[in-house]
Amino acid sequence: MALALALGLSLLSAAFLTVKTGKIAYGDPLDMPVEMVISRRMSVHYGDYYNLTSAVPWDSVSKVLWAAYGYTLRGKTAPTLSDYPIIIYLCNETAAYKFIPENRSLILWKQGDYRGLSGGYPAPIQLYIAFDTHLCQDAHWGNAESGCAIQNIYLMANTLNLGTVCEGGLWLDRTSINEGLSLPSNEEALYKMPLGYTLPPYTNYQNLVPTIRPSSSELPEIQDTAMTLEDALDSVFSSHEWSQNPLTKQELSQVLWASYGYSYLEDTASSPPKRHRTVPSADSYYPMRIYAANSSGVYQYLPEQHTLTTIITEDRRQSIAQASGNPWASSAPLIIATAWDDTRILTVNTTYIEVGLITQNVYLESAAWGLIADWGKADSNEQAMRQALGLTSQTNLHPASIITVGHPSGNFNLTIASSEGGTTSPLPGTYSYPAGTSVEITAAPSSGYSFDHWLLDGQEMTENPKTLVMNDNHTIEAFFIDNIPPEINLLGQEPSGNVLAYQNVTVTVNVTDSGSGVSNVTLSYTVDNGTSWNILNMTEASQNAYETTIPGHEDGTFVMYKIIASDNIGNQAVNNNNGYYYVYNVIPELQNLTLTLLTLMTLTFAIAAYKRKLLRAPYNSRK
Ligand SMILES: Cc1cc2nc3c(=O)[nH]c(=O)nc-3n(C[C@H](O)[C@H](O)[C@H](O)COP(=O)(O)O)c2cc1C
Repeated sequence: MALALALGLSLLSAAFLTVKTGKIAYGDPLDMPVEMVISRRMSVHYGDYYNLTSAVPWDSVSKVLWAAYGYTLRGKTAPTLSDYPIIIYLCNETAAYKFIPENRSLILWKQGDYRGLSGGYPAPIQLYIAFDTHLCQDAHWGNAESGCAIQNIYLMANTLNLGTVCEGGLWLDRTSINEGLSLPSNEEALYKMPLGYTLPPYTNYQNLVPTIRPSSSELPEIQDTAMTLEDALDSVFSSHEWSQNPLTKQELSQVLWASYGYSYLEDTASSPPKRHRTVPSADSYYPMRIYAANSSGVYQYLPEQHTLTTIITEDRRQSIAQASGNPWASSAPLIIATAWDDTRILTVNTTYIEVGLITQNVYLESAAWGLIADWGKADSNEQAMRQALGLTSQTNLHPASIITVGHPSGNFNLTIASSEGGTTSPLPGTYSYPAGTSVEITAAPSSGYSFDHWLLDGQEMTENPKTLVMNDNHTIEAFFIDNIPPEINLLGQEPSGNVLAYQNVTVTVNVTDSGSGVSNVTLSYTVDNGTSWNILNMTEASQNAYETTIPGHEDGTFVMYKIIASDNIGNQAVNNNNGYYYVYNVIPELQNLTLTLLTLMTLTFAIAAYKRKLLRAPYNSRK
């Protein structure tokens, strides 16, 4: 299909991307737990490391764009504080396209090669991230919202062994991008992201090797979950309907680590080897400070040590909620507050992007642990926020946002069904689970069938087993198909030995199909070494035994035959004796008569000889 062409070919009209159908087969890198995906996140700097001759398949482009800002069962892969203002343009060597998340497609925006706008690292594809100034009037928050999409691009690209980097240093000429792409007046370019396969030493991220996992006495060691990036992206949604259960230490450790921690992989290509952070940062400034507020106090998260240091030992959640202008947050089991340090920033915009990068990671890690997250601005009254967080004198710190995390409340129903040809585990039926429970559903095909797909709340997906986090009611149905052909076994050929000239040959085979059943069986034979084939229908003589008769042929004929059987779905099986065919020679009747006479004569002589021997032997030795 033209749509499946690799980028780089000329596409003159709208290019539609493949529809997301769930997780890819097992063994695929996309099966990695989301924690490992976060740990693999890194920027591929320097143009030299992008392979310009290796095209990025459309399917991978489609996944990256979906991850960035696509639609899911619950909304979108990224949260928003306005009305999803981020727009993504994709440029290849022939054109610029605009990503349309609603139907996961690209529309042709402008013909020509626009990958070089404002310079940067050459790559097969360049993504330009812009925001709609009508949907989000505040450029700081446009940057923050772009951070969510940019983090997703990093994570999905790294998962697919593609390299990327957020380019947006002081050098980036956004005006030339706006003009070069002819962006509408309400759109403004923010960042540029090359996308392409990487070259040594970064090929397939082999430069990243496991190292000690972050842990401390306050925050237990980072663990992997069973949740993939795709599943976590599917689960992203904002909710503050939490139960009053506090987070466990492990959950606290995981979400804080995701927010701004250090990878548990070491980059051996960097000199000296280093661990990347879970999010990128302009010029590696990492200006954000992360605070955790719960019922017992306010703490600062120290990423280097992966630990907490106490600021206040009293419950400040109410005042944080009020000061930030998010009263709904006052009973959140955990409030993560971000603030930036003005002594270590590139620009305020490149600092605000980190609000989004951090938020996205917390959402994804919350999804992996069955937690719910929400976020809000916290920059309208800096002094009140500083006071609430216990940072009154630190005026270099500028509170930016809050992210709430908690266990969802209530119970949700899961209705499981299965079509003909298999069943599920748990068995089909309706089950009630406490919110946040992670349920693994396995489709088990019956003999003769294979699992085809799930319909989860009306959306098709193929991963099996499927893990669902119960933060909503769900209906899931397993569909199976009979794609297994019948089985054919030769029972016999009559006559089994010599076939005489013009003698009929009856062939009997056993044909079974445990799926849709046998529809028809034929025998194909050739008497001219396969130049032409004659087809005979085989009829069911007794249960599963099919029979037909090959008419007699003149002597000297060499007959080869094979059996073909189809089931009721149309799956076809051929038994040609492993490529050797079933064969027999037709011999002349005379030859047969001669053989019989010879046999008779031999027998007569043998009997006569035996009798003579008996007559010569003494009586008592005869046996
Ligand atoms: C807002 C922003 C702007 C960035 N701009 C550039 C850039 O212009 N050029 C570049 O090579 N890297 C850029 N980066 C990537 C950072 O340099 C990179 O994240 C940082 O050095 C940490 O490295 P890592 O992402 O590999 O862990 C940017 C990152 C962010 C978040």
